Amino acid sequence: MVINGRNPERLEAARSELSQEGLTVTAHAADVAEAEQCRALVRHAIDAFGRLDVLVNNAGLSTEEALLQEIQPQVFQQILSVNVLGSVYPTHFALPHLLKSRGHVLFISSAAGLRGLPGHSPYCTSKMALTALAESLRLELRPQGVEVGIAYLGFTENDPQKKVLRADGQPVPLRPRSPIPPEPVDRVARRIVRMTETGRFKAVFSPLARLLHLTNRFLPGMVSWILARKHSDH
Ligand SMILES: NC(=O)c1ccc[n+]([C@@H]2O[C@H](COP(=O)([O-])OP(=O)(O)OC[C@H]3O[C@@H](n4cnc5c(N)ncnc54)[C@H](OP(=O)(O)O)[C@@H]3O)[C@@H](O)[C@H]2O)c1
Repeated sequence: MVINGRNPERLEAARSELSQEGLTVTAHAADVAEAEQCRALVRHAIDAFGRLDVLVNNAGLSTEEALLQEIQPQVFQQILSVNVLGSVYPTHFALPHLLKSRGHVLFISSAAGLRGLPGHSPYCTSKMALTALAESLRLELRPQGVEVGIAYLGFTENDPQKKVLRADGQPVPLRPRSPIPPEPVDRVARRIVRMTETGRFKAVFSPLARLLHLTNRFLPGMVSWILARKHSDH
């Protein structure tokens, strides 16, 4: 397995922890928003293991709640660069190898990719774009034996040091979120692995995300009304 992130120290700490669990892991620092760094990331995987079976596009960035008119344009651009192009570039360079192995590519989206939410337009735009990417790729790649999947995560445990971007682009610690307990990260990780085993295309993970998904499908007007009310309470 190859793990990736931008911060070499944190990456090495994660690699060492996974190795102690008995996994064969290498780490390669790269910014997935930079195409050439993604080329090098894939090259690292091939040099280390000789083949590539599964690519999980997980890197993601979000903003604090803010209205579009408050968000600096470069912040919107940064969210799209990491969340959208940061999934396109690794996939582009991995595909020749995934075609050889008849492998699997997975995209990590969010409940915010199922429905536009007020105060979160950059993140919702980016995560919804992953649906279009996954749907296009599924039709392109299935005949060639490569499976595609997209997981819509709900509120999930995260790194206590996680930062998000303020409307002016400043990274700030993530504020405590919903009172609903987050999904444990190991449960979410197991479900992602199961998607590669079953070939499932789309999966919505948390009960709250599933409720949003179903209600939005059958009663979209009601969801808009609830979201608008919740937003105006702020
Ligand atoms: N946690 C949730 O409640 C939740 C809910 C729905 C969806 N998700 C999605 O799940 C994924 C993981 O979320 P998380 O909460 O675990 O986030 P996180 O704690 O912020 O972790 C994000 C990871 O991505 C890496 N990363 C960020 N930008 C990168 C870049 N440009 N290039 C390479 N690596 C980069 C970070 O490492 P470095 O900082 O070292 O680069 C970090 O390891 C994201 O796609 C997120 O949108 C999370």
